[in-house]
Amino acid sequence: MKLFLDTAVIDEIRTVHSWGVLDGVTTNPTLFAMAGGGSYEQVLEEICGITSGPVSAEVIADDLEGILSEGRAFTKIAPNIVIKVPMSEIGLSAISRFAEEGIKTNCTLIFSAAQGLLAAKAGAWLLSPFVGRLDDINQDGMEMIRELAAIIEIHGFESEVLVASVRHPRHVIDGALAGAGVATLPFKVFQQMVHHPLTDKGIEQFKADWAKAVAESAKR
Ligand code: E4P
Repeated sequence: MKLFLDTAVIDEIRTVHSWGVLDGVTTNPTLFAMAGGGSYEQVLEEICGITSGPVSAEVIADDLEGILSEGRAFTKIAPNIVIKVPMSEIGLSAISRFAEEGIKTNCTLIFSAAQGLLAAKAGAWLLSPFVGRLDDINQDGMEMIRELAAIIEIHGFESEVLVASVRHPRHVIDGALAGAGVATLPFKVFQQMVHHPLTDKGIEQFKADWAKAVAESAKR
């Protein structure tokens, strides 16, 4: 399973990249606003300088020509840019036009398997169902992931399911088991995946025992 980082914060991207586990990055207007510093294009260029994996850049326009021209401009930033297009009637038109032009897209703000099926048919390269935001309104986000992953598998679509709006490591594991090919994680969830209280306690114990043993052997 590929793991993307869901952020526009450069230090976070550098850190996870240095662990050797970063497959790509997703950004959106909210994440860009939270990161601060530089234009969106500058931030995207910097991210693409760190990872050669797919980097999703989200369009803001809500008319077809606007989406197409923003998306085409983003693709000039780096070869690994993927155009993120929100699910809508116009969004589907844009995704199918981008597909005809050989431009990879990530259909975002998917909240049902039906929407995901349409995005796959339009030619989206990535499908981003938002699991956490559905859980937040007391719906089973993971059920949508299971349904969409099964549809993609059964019907042989080339699109990949990307588990988005991830809140905790359980979302990543359940998404992987459901057959999603990608998950995009906030930095905090990457850290949560690294650590376990027994691992951290075990490291401290080994260090303490080692120091004790070295001190004892020096006395002999
Ligand atoms: C990813 O591409 C999405 O933009 C992101 O996962 C949304 O997550 P949120 O629901 O935490 O804002």
